Amino acid sequence: MRVVSGIQPTGNLHLGNYLGAIRNWVRMQDAMKEGQECYFFLADLHAISMPHDPAELKSGTLEMAAALLACGIDPARSTLFNQAQVPAHVELQWLLNGTARMGWLNRMTQFKDKSGKNREGASAALFTYPVLQAADVLLYQATHVPVGEDQKQHLELARDIATKFNHDYAPKNEIGEEAPVFTLPEPINPPQAARIMSLRDGSKKMSKSDVSEMSRIELVDNADTIMKKIKKAKTDPEPLPSEEAGLAGRPEALNLVTIYAALSDSSIDAVLADFGGEGFGKFKPALGELMIETLSPISQRLRDLLDDPEEIDAILARGAAKARESAAPTLADAYRALGLLRH
Ligand code: TYM
Repeated sequence: MRVVSGIQPTGNLHLGNYLGAIRNWVRMQDAMKEGQECYFFLADLHAISMPHDPAELKSGTLEMAAALLACGIDPARSTLFNQAQVPAHVELQWLLNGTARMGWLNRMTQFKDKSGKNREGASAALFTYPVLQAADVLLYQATHVPVGEDQKQHLELARDIATKFNHDYAPKNEIGEEAPVFTLPEPINPPQAARIMSLRDGSKKMSKSDVSEMSRIELVDNADTIMKKIKKAKTDPEPLPSEEAGLAGRPEALNLVTIYAALSDSSIDAVLADFGGEGFGKFKPALGELMIETLSPISQRLRDLLDDPEEIDAILARGAAKARESAAPTLADAYRALGLLRH
């Protein structure tokens, strides 16, 4: 079993990233057995697909690394690094660009969302970004990739690219059997890994690119800010129903109950068994308290870690050295399979 996943170091880690992905990274790391491995990285190369400020990217990379450590990623057990220190990611992306089809990339909803009406003005990197994402996981022969719902399409593309590459180029033995160059990765999204929506609009995912800070809870938010954001979260005037079906057509209410269920590791029905019939005047403070209780140890650790940026830098350098070493054989196999001469 090899677990690989990444996060863009743009903006602060928010509740959606935490409940949708990072908490599972930590759980998978903690459940790892002898011979199994986890690779977690900051997708800094992905971050240049959108307009960005170089100084912010640099500080954001260290801050996001600190946030992952604060959430429980342990560099003694997981390999933690940033892509830019492992050139094999970019090399493999180019090799896979020969296999990825324009039609496949044209279907990616994230490109459509992020380019919006300005498709012609979007960077070429934004369009080919999913190929880099495929390289990120195929390079390490990932078997499992913990991601939120929104990244599943990219993972399916990675599987399509791996399948076609193996089919077209993998060496065959005398009886025609393929020795696949790449393992097909499985996306992992356990049911308690919720899709967390914006606090201002229950139809949009919680995102670091949303202009309104009130739309998201960040891991650096203090207790007062968290409570204020929860109390101001958009809702409707109805009391909570006692079963999940009663949340149909009430996206904001569903989102808050989903967050409560994810934070308390229970189900939506269990939360509604406790709060059914109550109004938001009672539910929101309870949710705010639960969130503060869960997030405050993380934000405390985060503040401590940020006091020592050199240590974070050293952790990333050690992780990158390990990642370069484990990426090398697959990259060499990919060059060889394509008939590229390289010694
Ligand atoms: P990114 O940086 O947008 O998000 C990191 C992880 O957080 C999840 N996530 C959410 N989950 C639930 N609710 C939300 N509102 C929410 N917002 C974000 C994402 O699904 C993701 O798992 N392209 C990726 C980074 C990446 C990557 C990879 C991931 C690059 N290479 C290889 C896995 C494997 C991204 O932009 O995620």
